[in-house]
Amino acid sequence: MTLNPDFDALEVISQDRKHVWHHLTQHKAHEKSDPLVIVKGDGMRVWDATGKEHLDAVSGAVWTVNVGYGRTEIADAVRDQLVEMNYFAQAVGNVPAAKFAARLVEKMPGMSRVYFSNSGSEANEKGFKIVRQIAQRKYGGEKYKILFRERDYHGTTITTLSASGQEERKGQYGPFTPGFVEVPHCLEYRSQWGEVDDYGLRAANEIERVILEEGPETIGALCLEPITAGGGVIEPPAGYWERVQEICQQYNILLHIDEVVCGVGRTGKWFGYQHYGIKPDIVTMAKGVASGYAAISCTVTTEAVFNDFKDDPNDPMSYFRDISTFGGCTAGPAAAMANMDIIERENLLENVTVQGEYLKGRLHELMAKYAIIGDVRGKGLFVGFELVLDRETKEPAPESMAVAIAAHCMKNGVIIGRTNRSIPGLNNTICLSPALIATQEDIDAIVSAIDNALADVTA
Ligand SMILES: Cc1ncc(COP(=O)(O)O)c(C=O)c1O
Repeated sequence: MTLNPDFDALEVISQDRKHVWHHLTQHKAHEKSDPLVIVKGDGMRVWDATGKEHLDAVSGAVWTVNVGYGRTEIADAVRDQLVEMNYFAQAVGNVPAAKFAARLVEKMPGMSRVYFSNSGSEANEKGFKIVRQIAQRKYGGEKYKILFRERDYHGTTITTLSASGQEERKGQYGPFTPGFVEVPHCLEYRSQWGEVDDYGLRAANEIERVILEEGPETIGALCLEPITAGGGVIEPPAGYWERVQEICQQYNILLHIDEVVCGVGRTGKWFGYQHYGIKPDIVTMAKGVASGYAAISCTVTTEAVFNDFKDDPNDPMSYFRDISTFGGCTAGPAAAMANMDIIERENLLENVTVQGEYLKGRLHELMAKYAIIGDVRGKGLFVGFELVLDRETKEPAPESMAVAIAAHCMKNGVIIGRTNRSIPGLNNTICLSPALIATQEDIDAIVSAIDNALADVTA
């Protein structure tokens, strides 16, 4: 692979070291070591400024580059759109936004309106504002509370953190926005109630318990990830979603599904919730919508939710008084349409299902070999495994072990992920989310790197 000769690698690394403040990074380490600077991507692979090749098993580290790197067709679509019309505030329409919205809701039966913004956090904030305004307009302000689940994450702003169930992400950023209430997680492997016959039902009934404690008349919405991502790759067990849906209907609570990670193919369907027959009222998405080729997020609602915002045209406060400046950038929906074309043309949903099963099978082989793997979980190309010191007691392995495994893979040219600064004492899950284009050979290479790392770290 030829790297762009237009930059001086040492200079770039030094500029980065001096002036860039990286996300989620303790920078003291960079006083002694160079930061990783990625300069090129192609398919499943990226190259750093020193010329080293890496196989990316986590789609840009955070489940984002779903169709892989180097897609000139997306770049061309964005370029063509930008020279035609780059921006106008979304109070008016633009061509790619209208076309993409129509294509998107076709894939989401029951949903009909798309509100554009820029990040997963922002899309979720819009959802919360919608719920709050409906509470004010229809319920005298009473139904203002929003439930979220322990171990789920909904974003980085103070309010989306207020709605997140990950203590280490929240630590030191309080006080938080009032009106957000936590419900218990649904990870059976770490059951809060010992051995339970029907854990899915039990975990869902715990949501009802919280609703009854708080007062159903005060709860406006329940916000859940279809499969918890950064909180440890948790697929709710059988029976959970059916009961959740029932509870929402019974107590007139809007169901907001956060598809920021699962959305647009990651789990083998367009949306994670579509595996479970759920009928959401609000769906949010970001990362994979344009695979990181442009910043775009969407808050999608049913027509019923939308209609709540046009009931009284004579009331100057009656509509959704929200604006996202860059929600009017046309690059996002232009990239999102080209991204969708690729997923359809290359049958990537099918590939995700096939390769996801293969990946899980290979991880179960590793589980038979290494006692440190306590549990393998996930759906499609969204998989994780928990590291434990003892399979019987399920004592979590220390975070340093997950760090060592990831560092070993990195040294050998494979980038894997791990839960970090998430749940105290439980940052012990290794995460894998290769691009939806992953082949069996890519997966073998990823598993082989993990195998070597586990052999070394557990020796
Ligand atoms: C489930 C979920 N929701 C929301 C977000 C926030 O998205 P963003 O970082 O684009 O604001 C994330 C980010 O990782 C996420 O995993």
